[in-house]
Order: sequence, then C-alpha cells, then structure tokens
Amino acid sequence: MSRVRAERLVVAITGASGAPYAKRLLDVLRRMREAGDGPEVAVVLSPTAPEVWALECGGDVRAAVEPFPVWGGRDYKAPFASGSAGWDAMVVIPCSMSTVARIAHGTSDSLLTRAADVIIKEKRNLVIVPRETPLSAIHLENLLKLANLGVTVAPAMPSFYAQPTSVEAVLDTVVARVLDHLGLPNDLMRRWGTPAG
Ligand SMILES: Cc1cc2nc3c(=O)[nH]c(=O)nc-3n(C[C@H](O)[C@H](O)[C@H](O)COP(=O)(O)O)c2cc1C
Repeated sequence: MSRVRAERLVVAITGASGAPYAKRLLDVLRRMREAGDGPEVAVVLSPTAPEVWALECGGDVRAAVEPFPVWGGRDYKAPFASGSAGWDAMVVIPCSMSTVARIAHGTSDSLLTRAADVIIKEKRNLVIVPRETPLSAIHLENLLKLANLGVTVAPAMPSFYAQPTSVEAVLDTVVARVLDHLGLPNDLMRRWGTPAG
C-alpha cells in the first residue's frame, strides 16, 4: 500500500448502526499492538454510541475496547484535540448522518467533532464510514463537501466478490478497505485478482 501509514490514530464511534465494524477494526488494531506493530490508538465515543453498541454487539463499549484509552466526549484536554500534538489519522466508524453534518460544518462542539476538525485543518488523514439508507440530498451534499476537503468517504457497504461466508467475513470487506486507507497492512479479505484459497 502506498498510503502513509497511520502512527497515531483516533478511532471515533458514533450512534449509527454498524458498531460491529468498529468492534472488528479495534480487534485487528489490538492484535497489531500485541504483535508490537500497531499504531497508537485512542477511542472517542459519541453520546449515542454506547447504546447502539450494546444493542448490536452486546455489553459495554468501554470494556470492549480495552486496552485502548477512551476519552470523554467533552474532554478537550485529549492530545488529539490540538493540531500541535501530531496525531496523524482518524477514522469515524460507523459515522451517523448527524456526525457527518457536524463535521462538514466544522462545529467542533464535542471532542469527536473537534478531533475531526483538527485532522481536516491540518490536512491529515480522515476516513469516515457513513451508514444510512437511503441517503437524502442533505446527506449527499455533506458527504460531497467532506470528499472535496480530502476526507476519505468509505461507506459501510460490504462487497461480495470475495465470497464471504460469515458475518465476520462480510464485516471484513469494509474493515479491510478502511485499514487500506489508513495505510495499515492487512490480509482480512481476498483481494480482487488473487486466487481463491
Ligand atoms: C439502533 C439505532 C440505530 C441507528 N442507526 C443509524 C444509522 O444507521 N445512521 C444514522 O445516521 N443514524 C442512526 N441512528 C440515529 C443516530 O443515533 C442519531 O441521529 C444520533 O443523534 C446520532 O448522534 P451521534 O452522531 O452523536 O452518535 C440510529 C439510532 C439507533 C438508536
């Protein structure tokens, strides 16, 4: 992968459906860390994220993301709330349309939206994984605005050409592309053009 590899990564989770994508991503990042090869990771949650996580994954999100630190939603003392700290990448997974709108309008009204604002202003790597269907013109305009700012819009849209046979393998078709755009090597899914195992 030719993309710059994320060294210090903010993983933000919102109240859109799709908490299992975040869980899978964090499981992979934890494995990388255990192998001594992962980025530094910090987690930030929207107010609705714990409720949707409990519904879709079961249990408490804060316990599930250990050992990664979870920052409070208004804790602007977090290092990634300032551009000078040098955090180089952020992913919002899943990303609600509410958070898409707030990031697109630079509200910086929570640690999550402030962190995204910082990544955009510093011209670093922001990947969002929006989830909604159907998409209204409001959603599309906000997403276009972010894409034009250099944000990678990687929707929670699984693919099936690798013939996934489990829910986890379906999740991996999205998570693999997210890792690709964070510059993090992975073999989560069979890539197009490679032989079926
Ligand atoms: C179970 C559940 C599923 C939801 N799924 C979505 C979704 O897929 N996309 C979305 O934009 N909002 C979804 N919502 C609504 C958001 O949670 C709501 O708009 C909230 O204000 C988002 O705030 P946040 O972005 O700060 O998490 C869902 C809410 C619940 C309770």
